[in-house]
Amino acid sequence: MSLSPWLVEKEGELHADGIPLREIAARFRTPCYVYSAARIRENVERFRKTFAGLPMELHYAVKANPLGAILCLLARDGLGAEVVSGGELLRALRAGFPSQKIIFTGVGKTKAELELALREGIRAVAVESMEELKALEEISREIGCCARVALRLNPALSPDTHPHLATGRPGSKFGLDPRDAEEALAWIARSSDLCLVGLHLHIGSQILDVEPYLAAWRYLCEILRKARDHGLSPSFLDLGGGFGISYGGEGPGFPLEELAAGLREEMPSGVTLMLEPGRALVGDAGLLLVRVLYTKRVHEKAYVVVDAGMSDLLRPALYGAHHRIVPVRKRTGPPVKADVVGPICENADVLATDRELSPLQSGDLLAILDTGAYGSSMSSHYNSRPRGAEVLVYRGKAHLVRRRETVEDLVRGEIVPEDLG
Ligand SMILES: Cc1ncc(COP(=O)(O)O)c(C=O)c1O
Repeated sequence: MSLSPWLVEKEGELHADGIPLREIAARFRTPCYVYSAARIRENVERFRKTFAGLPMELHYAVKANPLGAILCLLARDGLGAEVVSGGELLRALRAGFPSQKIIFTGVGKTKAELELALREGIRAVAVESMEELKALEEISREIGCCARVALRLNPALSPDTHPHLATGRPGSKFGLDPRDAEEALAWIARSSDLCLVGLHLHIGSQILDVEPYLAAWRYLCEILRKARDHGLSPSFLDLGGGFGISYGGEGPGFPLEELAAGLREEMPSGVTLMLEPGRALVGDAGLLLVRVLYTKRVHEKAYVVVDAGMSDLLRPALYGAHHRIVPVRKRTGPPVKADVVGPICENADVLATDRELSPLQSGDLLAILDTGAYGSSMSSHYNSRPRGAEVLVYRGKAHLVRRRETVEDLVRGEIVPEDLG
């Protein structure tokens, strides 16, 4: 089994970009997310190299991992950002993404969020309904600016992925259907407060086939022609994100080269291609470092209880997602088959089911791989568990980039009325 290139076994134990994970656990305790800045940069480079020669802009999907240090790294590398809330927008600005490189998507932006986006002068607000378009127009009139709009389209495509992750299929809440897209184009063409700058879609996440992207691209091109018929000239076509990674450690992940080749043949003139990867940039650049608390058997079934659960890593419980789990130092002896579970009071708190593992004892360290995307960002305080630390390995050093939370962090913001009880 090949691990990620930044994870190497040396002298019998796993190292992250040259640093023993044992040392990271001793210094920052567990559970702890560990990220590799070098791997994130390699992933960015792969996109740039693959699409070289095409007018392409890369916007990082902040939701995959909004950690300030990761955002700063990507902003300094010249990427743009795709955000889905006022909170993500402010994080992106704070990390140094120029407002002109930020796109705001999402189906339920509030008026306050739309106003914030306009006042900050971001690249585009991707509108998802006629009502939102009209609300944006009204706000831009009040502010006295012309709102830069992208239309988020629902192309009615069903790529092969988990149903929760197929966001461009018929019946999904996202985007405008063809009839509303037509109406939106006509509306914008008549408006002096709205300016169409782009067309956008996002067909889903963790997709491994090229074909649905090419179908989505053809759909974008068709709507581009319609926009031009209305006298509008959007300057970008945004194919969204969703490029899958190889969670099993086998197989190459999404065939980016095939996508680039397909797009090269069908690139309309006068527009830039925009991509919004999240997972493909940070997914395999992160791991969750956990410690075994106990091993036990219940009615003959073996369990390994670790100090992280679904509140730290929700993907297995939410999507039945598979993450490789490897010991930091392998013990010798026959393997055991066990469920790896967390401390949360839910049957769904299972990080791996019937997994063959080398023998384990209380105190052993395990690395849960490929958890850089939608790991920390989906974590919660469920069961009142403070979140663990997060560490970025950068230029041969392990940097604490988010401190471990305390109980104070759990109750921050709570108010107990004085005359209660
Ligand atoms: C609009 C949009 N763009 C990009 C992404 C990033 O997807 P991924 O992390 O799978 O690349 C998402 C994820 O939900 C999204 O909703």
